[in-house]
Amino acid sequence: MKNSKPVGLFVSMLFGAALCGAGAAHAAKISISCGAVGQEYEFCKTGAEAWAKKTGNEVNLVSTPNSATERLALYQQLLAAGAPDIDVFQIDVVWPGILGNHFIDLAPFAKDVVKNHFPAIIQNNTIDGKLVAMPWFTDAGMLYYRKDLLEKYGAKPPQTWQELTETAKKIQDAERKGGNDKMWGFVWQGRAYEGLTCNALEWVASYNGGIVVDKDGKITINNPQAAAALDTAAGWIKTISPEGVLNYTEEEGRGVFQSGNAVFMRNWPYAWPLAQGPESAIKGKVGVSALPKGGADGRSAAALGGWQLAVSKYSKNKELAADLAVYLTSTEEQKRRAIKGAYNPTIESLYKDQEILAAAPFMGELYDTFVNAVARPSTVTGAKYNQVSNEFWNAVYSVLSGKAKAADSLAQLEGSLKRMSRGGKW
Ligand code: GLC
Repeated sequence: MKNSKPVGLFVSMLFGAALCGAGAAHAAKISISCGAVGQEYEFCKTGAEAWAKKTGNEVNLVSTPNSATERLALYQQLLAAGAPDIDVFQIDVVWPGILGNHFIDLAPFAKDVVKNHFPAIIQNNTIDGKLVAMPWFTDAGMLYYRKDLLEKYGAKPPQTWQELTETAKKIQDAERKGGNDKMWGFVWQGRAYEGLTCNALEWVASYNGGIVVDKDGKITINNPQAAAALDTAAGWIKTISPEGVLNYTEEEGRGVFQSGNAVFMRNWPYAWPLAQGPESAIKGKVGVSALPKGGADGRSAAALGGWQLAVSKYSKNKELAADLAVYLTSTEEQKRRAIKGAYNPTIESLYKDQEILAAAPFMGELYDTFVNAVARPSTVTGAKYNQVSNEFWNAVYSVLSGKAKAADSLAQLEGSLKRMSRGGKW
């Protein structure tokens, strides 16, 4: 599964649901693209509907593919054609450098509120002095575990990947013997797409193996710690992780974990209220912690994720579209989304909000994980980031699927990145 599905498949998704604002006689219709991972679409819809009601306009929601990689391909196709169909785009934290020149500067619309957001995200979203997107929610990889099973077998949340491997194997085998032959130790995102880049970056960074390309543009990935990290992960396939993990995005892993068939899961915060929700088989049995370290000298590394809202320069209603983006990223709306959907705010003061901390305690407990999350090398590689990531996830994928040894695959990756970077200039 090296290539993503053709974008054409998703064009049908452009016919979203039109939601009318009350009494909107001469209302404009603003189209917004939203993710649909977990409860994303639902939360986007309720937020956009509230704006439509307040302003007397209409909103049209466009659902997009779950894989970030497929979503990017769809956006690139629409934006390259200068299509005015979508006014507001939900964009990944690693896309400002790739898509930024298709978006308007939001600074004039957000001048009173910019200061409320984490400065690092504002900086990330500023390209050539233009604020191309407003921060909406931030993300970091976390380890979910079955509290009940760890207790049953006298185990603690693992501090290192080695501990995770051992605990996962022990509990998986015992539970299988006890009658659940579907039980697996660890599920994560192993499909050849952007999610694998996030998982693999966490392993590599946790072994002090760097972040593929450092902040000065130097290619650092061909090193023994990185190879050790990838070899460790390759050892999980078919022992503690199903072979199918090589085709998992976020939602497939969540499905397995939430139906009670995995001890550990690597995922983003959105999975929390779902795993603990009324329809979950493991409600009340879930714990979360920072991801394990790469050995005693390693560190816990969470990939920095997150989503922003940008306004297309091809929009016919730029001001209204900007108003919607500012509304959806406001303190009130981020608070609602944090409480009900566990979407991590990009507004620092909300991490002290008692209602948020009561609904999603991990936002307080893992605060350091969120603020110290490891960024992918998207700022330094700019418009080339997706190609860099694509080379990286494919190199990792060949190791995981047993087609190459980590050391060879990383040496080859170094070569292709060097050719791409033209002497580190990017
Ligand atoms: C999450 C993150 C995003 C990342 C994606 C990869 O949605 O927020 O930044 O690119 O996962 O699957």
